[in-house]
Amino acid sequence: MEPQELISHAVIAQNRAAATYSNYPVGAALLTEEGEIILGCNVESKAYPTTLCAERVAIFSAIAQGYVQFKAMALVTKDGAYPCGSCRQIIHEYTGNIPLYIADGNNGFSTCTVSKLLPYPFG
Ligand code: THU
Repeated sequence: MEPQELISHAVIAQNRAAATYSNYPVGAALLTEEGEIILGCNVESKAYPTTLCAERVAIFSAIAQGYVQFKAMALVTKDGAYPCGSCRQIIHEYTGNIPLYIADGNNGFSTCTVSKLLPYPFG
């Protein structure tokens, strides 16, 4: 699957973000080995730290649905930000070193891997 196609799914997820407090919607689209696309968006809470990031929503949801092997993940924010530290750890543990398409919501994207983002992971 081309990066732009996976990114377009991440944009759909981004539009579903519950980001009332930060006004910073994030979308994730995780491509499984079987070719399924599992979406995630950030979901914020009135109890702020209870918030969950888009990447972890997608990965945890995929695992709950029985998917354990992944090919790529697309992430979209309004400024092309990279995943937070907690998500880097979970990406490392559960997806392996797949390509991460980091999109800025304006047709731009860069490709990286978690081994670059988290060179000395726990575990
Ligand atoms: N957020 C993500 O969804 N992924 C990240 O990797 C970093 C931050 C969310 C959490 C919160 O809802 C908003 O972005 C602002 O921090």
